[in-house]
Amino acid sequence: MSSPTPRTVLITGGAGGIGQGIARAFIAAGDHVVLADRDADAVTSAASELGATPLPLDITDAAAVASAFSSLSEPSGVDVLVNNAGILSVHGAVTELTPEAYRSILDVNVVGTFTVTQAFARHRIAAGGGGAIVNISSIGGRQPTPGMGAYESSKAAVDSVTRWSAIELAAHGIRVNAVAPGPVLTPMLEMGMPEGSPAREAWSSRIPLGDLAKISDIAPAVVFLAGASHITGVSLAVDGGQLLT
Ligand SMILES: NC(=O)c1ccc[n+]([C@@H]2O[C@H](COP(=O)([O-])OP(=O)(O)OC[C@H]3O[C@@H](n4cnc5c(N)ncnc54)[C@H](O)[C@@H]3O)[C@@H](O)[C@H]2O)c1
Repeated sequence: MSSPTPRTVLITGGAGGIGQGIARAFIAAGDHVVLADRDADAVTSAASELGATPLPLDITDAAAVASAFSSLSEPSGVDVLVNNAGILSVHGAVTELTPEAYRSILDVNVVGTFTVTQAFARHRIAAGGGGAIVNISSIGGRQPTPGMGAYESSKAAVDSVTRWSAIELAAHGIRVNAVAPGPVLTPMLEMGMPEGSPAREAWSSRIPLGDLAKISDIAPAVVFLAGASHITGVSLAVDGGQLLT
């Protein structure tokens, strides 16, 4: 079942660099975007700049997520969910990381993604089915970097949740896919590793196409999968060929 145009697209983590880029791409395609984020001030200001609807929301709060979908039921509900919210900041070697730190990243990246997926699926099934989910994963889920295993295993789980929900929700006409970026030049990352810096060179040298992804390399892949009527259960790497190495 294809989604109506213009669609209503809910993007979690919408105040962040990639979330805003994805929002821009859907708005350019003529869709209406609801931008959700746990940072209420940042999401309100990003939404007003982009021409989107702001929704302060913590994806780990199941009651708040369910109530957000009931408030979005009228007039026409949400057609597309982009599970983009995630935390990238938990690092540590397998010999060092605390279980508490590991749980904190799994709680947002895995359980949070599951929580919003479940609420969206119930919302779509109640509306008669159809719709699409695009999860933002990472190629780290398939290729390890020392010190980043907590984040990377959370993204391997996101790929698995993608396949799990895709196989179950296909019967309702709901497609579920993922985009798995390699490192992306968000404003924050660009500040931390400017062009020419050793850190930037170290990452670039792993990428056959020569540099990190721009946000504008990621967003079109998300819009494509949201509308790709016969694709479900895939995790599409957008990584400049890094997985080939
Ligand atoms: N930046 C990269 O290099 C890169 C690479 C691969 C994948 N990704 C993924 O892309 C997504 C976006 O990353 P980004 O670089 O834009 O990060 P970012 O930190 O700029 O944005 C993430 C946003 O998610 C929000 N968020 C965090 N926890 C939340 C919660 N519990 N509920 C609601 N919102 C919450 C934050 O407030 C923030 O606005 C993440 O899932 C990340 O793992 C990023």
